[in-house]
Amino acid sequence: MMQATTVLCLLLPLATALAVRQDQQPGPCDPAPCYEVIDSAACWSAVLMGQEKNATKIFDCVPGGKEEMCRCYGCDSILDKFVVSHQMCS
Ligand SMILES: *[C@@H]1O[C@H](CO)[C@@H](O)[C@H](O)[C@H]1NC(C)=O
Repeated sequence: MMQATTVLCLLLPLATALAVRQDQQPGPCDPAPCYEVIDSAACWSAVLMGQEKNATKIFDCVPGGKEEMCRCYGCDSILDKFVVSHQMCS
C-alpha cells in the first residue's frame, strides 16, 4: 500500500511536468534537490485541489519548508501555476 502510493506520487507529477511544460517560462526546478517536492505530491496536491484551504500548508509538505518548495515548484506545472498565482514565493 505504501509502495503503490509512493510510485504514484513520484510518477504523476513527473509525467505532468514533462508533458505540459514546453512553451512557458519554467519555474525553478533542479531535479536532484527537488526530489522531495516531487515525492510529496500527494501532500501538496490536496492543497491545490482545495481539500486543504490553507495554501501555506504546501510548505509543510517537505522537510525544507518554504525555501525548498520555492526552489522546486517549477518541477510540476500545476504546482508552478498555483505558487505563482498565489504569489507564495515572491
Ligand atoms: C496556515 O498554515 C500555516 C502553516 O502551517 C500556519 O502557520 C498558519 O497559522 C495557518 N493559517 C491559518 C489561517 O490557519
